[in-house]
Amino acid sequence: MNTNIDTPALLVDLDLVEANIQTLLRHLKGTGVQPRPHLKTAKSPDVARLLAAAGIERFCVAKLGEAEVFAKAGFDDLMIVSEIVGAVKLARLAALHQDHPRIRTVVDSIEGARGLNDAVAANGKPLDILIELDVGQGRCGVPPGEPALVLAQAIATMPHLRLVGVHGYEGHLQHVGDPDVKRQRCEAAMQSLGSTVELLRQAGHSVETVTTGGTGTYRLCAQHPIVNEVQPGSFVFLDGAYRKALGANNEYANALVVLATVISCPTPLRAVVDAGLKALSTDMGNAEPRDLPGVRYRPAGDEYGMLEWGPELNLSLAIGDQVALIPSHIDTTVNLYDTYHAYSDDRFVARWAISARGKTQ
Ligand SMILES: Cc1ncc(COP(=O)(O)O)c(C=O)c1O
Repeated sequence: MNTNIDTPALLVDLDLVEANIQTLLRHLKGTGVQPRPHLKTAKSPDVARLLAAAGIERFCVAKLGEAEVFAKAGFDDLMIVSEIVGAVKLARLAALHQDHPRIRTVVDSIEGARGLNDAVAANGKPLDILIELDVGQGRCGVPPGEPALVLAQAIATMPHLRLVGVHGYEGHLQHVGDPDVKRQRCEAAMQSLGSTVELLRQAGHSVETVTTGGTGTYRLCAQHPIVNEVQPGSFVFLDGAYRKALGANNEYANALVVLATVISCPTPLRAVVDAGLKALSTDMGNAEPRDLPGVRYRPAGDEYGMLEWGPELNLSLAIGDQVALIPSHIDTTVNLYDTYHAYSDDRFVARWAISARGKTQ
């Protein structure tokens, strides 16, 4: 693949992204379950625009800083899926909620709820919140059952909060490879989510939204009658780790690559490219060359990557050649770039700003 784009660069195949979005919608059709895609993966209002053009209206973000970017770009039906804590953030949240009352967020403690309640007290309209439940991931989230009820009862006494749902994300199951193991473990997670929602409803709490599910699990979650919203993010581009984990069940295409240039060919069996640790994240393993079967990539420093192959391949790469690399983990790789180069039918059609890149606060 040779282009006149400077490297390292993120290339997005628009046709594959659109196909991925349609795959999600096809899977959910007739289930009564609404998609609320997670924008922390793509971090770009232009990608949100593609999702919106397909009829998707609500979104997740991980951080308040991402919410600020997307709300400003016109996408304010947002659920911020992490606990918002600390005076500075609470003040920012209150300001965002004042202008964008559809913003909602999650909470897993009475202190956290109190902070939110006090922060939005002067806004004159309640903040919609969801209880975050730990359905087995062991990250944030109140334990299922009685502790969730105690939190719901405390929230009911806070006049500036409106409890609208329960969020229970089974992040620990996204990359489980064995489909039977994944199904069983997901069913257990959905059972604990479901029984807690029933407990809250029986106690008179309104739980309109029951939200969960990532790219690796949303189809299983959507089969559970209690679930009415799913939050996959990676499906838009997919990545190497997901492709491996989904295996034969994968219906998504790798729509994003890092384009790198060969800058040195020191021996016949290796070539050095200009994409290293600062261009491709490695938290989920190494990237893979897309169009060079049998060639391995590994980082060779901050700014360098090594392509290696055996003599049986009879391959020769030339200095200046460009190579497409499939990132192992999309989210952490996208966060290294300012821009997507989008192409369709082998023609570059747009540059999209990754405006929420680095918005970790
Ligand atoms: C709370 C939450 N929901 C949804 C997702 C989306 O998951 P994925 O990108 O695997 O589809 C994530 C990803 O980390 C998450 O943390």
